[in-house]
Amino acid sequence: MEKTLILIKPDAVEKKLIGTIIKMYEENGLTIEDMYMCVPTEEILAKHYAEHIERDFYKGLVEFMMSGKIVAVLASGENAVSLVRKINGATNPKKADPCTIRYLYGSGVQMNAVHGSAVIEDAIREIEIWFGN
Ligand code: TYD
Repeated sequence: MEKTLILIKPDAVEKKLIGTIIKMYEENGLTIEDMYMCVPTEEILAKHYAEHIERDFYKGLVEFMMSGKIVAVLASGENAVSLVRKINGATNPKKADPCTIRYLYGSGVQMNAVHGSAVIEDAIREIEIWFGN
């Protein structure tokens, strides 16, 4: 069974959408294996967003991610990685399919409610970062 890493970002937590968002994953067949809340550190975000460190949006992204609590979620299911990406929708909520989390609850490219691992290799790496072995 495939595993993937989800982050419910500070904008969605602030809007009291934790339950709504978790329900969307569960209703689509995913199993929640583990989850916790935290205000992430700069160190963990540097690991998580390593591929974006040189991008001009990186600093603002890290500041946003540290602006409140997030929920780190370990989910499993058949094709969990691509299924979560489908439920999340495109990075830009305005370009996301209707019924996706980002279309419904995102307010911009940065404040787009959720993160989901992009590919299986990323999922393995990100689960290690957020949940250890
Ligand atoms: P990316 O990996 O491109 O998208 P996704 O989250 O859909 O896998 O980008 C990671 C996060 O970086 C994205 O969710 C929000 C942030 N971001 C910005 O703040 N500005 C941008 O222009 C881009 C491309 C991303």
